[in-house]
Amino acid sequence: METTLIILKPDAVQRGLMGRIISRFEEKGLQIVGAKMMRISPELAQKHYESHEGKPFYEGLVRFMTSSPVLVLGIRGMGAITICRSMMGATFGSKADGGTIRGDFGVSNSFNLIHGSDSPEAAERECGLFFAEGELLDWDRAQEGWIYDCSGATPE
Ligand code: RTP
Ligand code: MG
Repeated sequence: METTLIILKPDAVQRGLMGRIISRFEEKGLQIVGAKMMRISPELAQKHYESHEGKPFYEGLVRFMTSSPVLVLGIRGMGAITICRSMMGATFGSKADGGTIRGDFGVSNSFNLIHGSDSPEAAERECGLFFAEGELLDWDRAQEGWIYDCSGATPE
């Protein structure tokens, strides 16, 4: 099982899209294992996006991410990182396919609603940045046996 870090960005929160976006992940069969509403500090935003430091959009990105509250989620499932990235769609709302979160809910390139970890290493690092020890919960879902075929050695 993988756990990925998802952030519903300030535009998603301000536009009242939190519930609809969370529903997509729940309906897909992914499990919410952490949720935290917060105002990201400039230091945390800079650290989170440090791989983009020096790029032309970096300062605007940090300003945007700290401009208003966000909802940070830990989302778990087999292949959760890749599944969430494909559900998010391409980075720019103007380019993202219909059926994806960015494609269905936005047109802007900068205000693109959602962040998702892009690799296992990034997921590990980002979950550690946003969630303290014990804030990501291991809990048994009643419906687990209908989400995955659990009859073999590993869930399929
Ligand atoms: P994210 O990290 O937020 O999940 O987005 P991503 O992987 O799809 O895209 P990434 O390349 O990591 O870029 C991070 C965020 O920076 C903004 N951006 N603006 N104007 C530009 O050329 C540009 N490029 C990236 C977007 O807000 C993007 O989500
Ligand atoms: Mg990224």
